[in-house]
Amino acid sequence: MIEYNEKSGLFHLSSDTFSYVLAVRDGRLLNLYYGDPLTPGTDLSYLLSSYYQVSSFEQIEQNLPLELPSVGTGWYGDPSVQAIGPDGNNITKLRFADYKILPHKEPLEGLPSVGVGSARLEKDETLEILLKDELTGLQAILSYTVLDSALARSMRLVNAGSDELLLTHMASAGFSLPSRRFEVLHLRGAWARERHIVRTPLGQAQVRIQSQRGASGHEENPFIALLAPETTENADPVYGLSLVYSGSFLAEAQVSPFDSTYVSIGLNPMTHQWHLAPGETFQCPEAVLVYSHEGMNGMSQIYHRLYRDHLCRSEWAGKERPILINNWEATYFRFDERKLLSLAKKASSLGIELLVLDDGWFGVRNDDRRSLGDWYVNPEKLPHGLSGIAKKVGELGMKFGLWVEPEMISPDSDLYRAHPDWCLHAPGRSRTEGRHQLILDLSREDVQDYLIRVLTSVFSSADISYVKWDMNRNMTESFSALLPPHLQMETQHRYILGLYRVLNTLTEAFPHILFESCSGGGGRFDPGMLYFMPQTWTSDDSDAVERLKIQYGTSLVYPASAMGAHVSAVPNHQIGRVTSMNMRADVAIGGNFGFELDLDRLSDQDLATAKAYVQKLKDLRRLTARGTFTRLISPFETNYTAWQFADEKRVLLCYYRILAEPNPIPHRVYLKGLEPSALYQIDEADASSLPESFRSVFTGSALMEAGVPMIWDKTGDFVSRTIVFHKVN
Ligand code: DGJ
Repeated sequence: MIEYNEKSGLFHLSSDTFSYVLAVRDGRLLNLYYGDPLTPGTDLSYLLSSYYQVSSFEQIEQNLPLELPSVGTGWYGDPSVQAIGPDGNNITKLRFADYKILPHKEPLEGLPSVGVGSARLEKDETLEILLKDELTGLQAILSYTVLDSALARSMRLVNAGSDELLLTHMASAGFSLPSRRFEVLHLRGAWARERHIVRTPLGQAQVRIQSQRGASGHEENPFIALLAPETTENADPVYGLSLVYSGSFLAEAQVSPFDSTYVSIGLNPMTHQWHLAPGETFQCPEAVLVYSHEGMNGMSQIYHRLYRDHLCRSEWAGKERPILINNWEATYFRFDERKLLSLAKKASSLGIELLVLDDGWFGVRNDDRRSLGDWYVNPEKLPHGLSGIAKKVGELGMKFGLWVEPEMISPDSDLYRAHPDWCLHAPGRSRTEGRHQLILDLSREDVQDYLIRVLTSVFSSADISYVKWDMNRNMTESFSALLPPHLQMETQHRYILGLYRVLNTLTEAFPHILFESCSGGGGRFDPGMLYFMPQTWTSDDSDAVERLKIQYGTSLVYPASAMGAHVSAVPNHQIGRVTSMNMRADVAIGGNFGFELDLDRLSDQDLATAKAYVQKLKDLRRLTARGTFTRLISPFETNYTAWQFADEKRVLLCYYRILAEPNPIPHRVYLKGLEPSALYQIDEADASSLPESFRSVFTGSALMEAGVPMIWDKTGDFVSRTIVFHKVN
């Protein structure tokens, strides 16, 4: 709900879970409150005078809860918006001019956003606040939409003046909280260990979480949260900011000398500048703010619902995903049609529904040194082409999927020989290769058009039901051969806009294809990519134990339906660990379930276990994709991990022990969010390996308050158990 109180001049944005109150004072837009819901009509204008009880003008500016701080006004922190005029001065003084309340949320030009298109929400009233800099003519239009329990915020910058402006700071959202007693929560990592949960006290410091790589990156996710030191998974406040963008970003928390904290998220000023000619508009990406007083799980569940149901536009967003087998870790580049069909045959006998042909099917790509860009079939590997293999896979009762890495170009490729200037590169500098490849310059329309053409032809050349869209290196020379020198700092953002145009065109042209994004595993696991593709390959690290942390961390913001999770071979190819088929499958249950190993090398026993899991997953996948996901025990804190999925009828409890313990302490796991008086019974199949006493009926309150004793039927390291509870009344 959005209310404007004429008398107090306050804007009150609210839902069942939060209130967000804005005020205008001396033309400045101030954030008076963000937190638990306030009674409708609450007037907070009494707070205003307190900000002025400091001694000088610049102290006032630093003390005020500015919504959009800028330089040259007495604010000495990092600005959220800054425009440099033709005379070189960067003073940016934006003052309130007007507002309007729109009945609906508008899509963002050229950018993905929540709750538009097919993923529309019923109620999405939008407040637009117009701020103007009278001298330069710069206008900022701040948009706020209440989306269920979240708040979408974005900013449009318009040059209504007569001179060109250089935009150097363009945050998407920021707000101030009257405390410095926060910890910063973010998702830190690297290749093969993405999105580990890190929580650090803010103290009086400035904390920056960022990417400058031209991709959201493995190292940090475009997300930051502030929480109280006492906040747990299930209680106390947390403020999350998540950016719907796939390129370089900056999220920061700044503590003022008056102990307030300004937190913001948006484009990274280190990598993004934009020239705004008179009459032009620049649209900043959207940020999604979530407040919860029900701890981190409370915040995550709001993000999960919103991103699952109102971000992904694909017709696959709400559908059950096929159980797949991917040939990458089974064969790497060494495969031919015969091998793929043997894999498919075995897979089909296990009930697997989709074969994904990964890297190496095109050009002369028999290793990772060449052929990216040459998107035509290698006839030695696939003598009957893509249509031939797809048809034969189809005859086995399975669907066929294909890997592509369209944003890249190998120097050793026909495409590069024909168009050496089509990659990102800087005059006079060598072209830095990563995995022997360069990046196509997607800021160029001719390159975008080429990709649309060539991929349209590949995707229509066979019966392709699924596409894995990979991207395996980050930007180094972020320069474009077509842009003049003064626009080169726009290359990264123009690239992302170009990528979004290509993705938009292709996903609209092939609505039946299930697209999965990937970037050396989870190097671009962000809401921007999820808008086009409803699932992402979570990490190249498929070791079951490492995956506990990766999937647990990823779930802080992203729903399980967005995560690809595969059972791979042992010893694990990334770290050499050996875990049982049960443990690997029990971990993969936490995402879109699949396999990535050579089925021809599995023992009969492992094949039988794999087959049983495929059956089990067909029964459980609706629950894991659409049920409410709750983290129960953290792998970052203990030797155990536990999580649950729950819908109206069932609860799936998954728990894991990493290392064996001598003379073990009996542990319990406490379920969450059940109806206290409802009755639950353990699924027969799961109860058969539990003590007799588990074959009874439990109340929700027992499962939540007294807990479930963790029972292990195996000794040794890396063991797991999953239990389904059926609601019986
Ligand atoms: C990186 C991906 O993350 C892997 O799954 C695989 O597709 C390789 N690229 C192929 O080169």
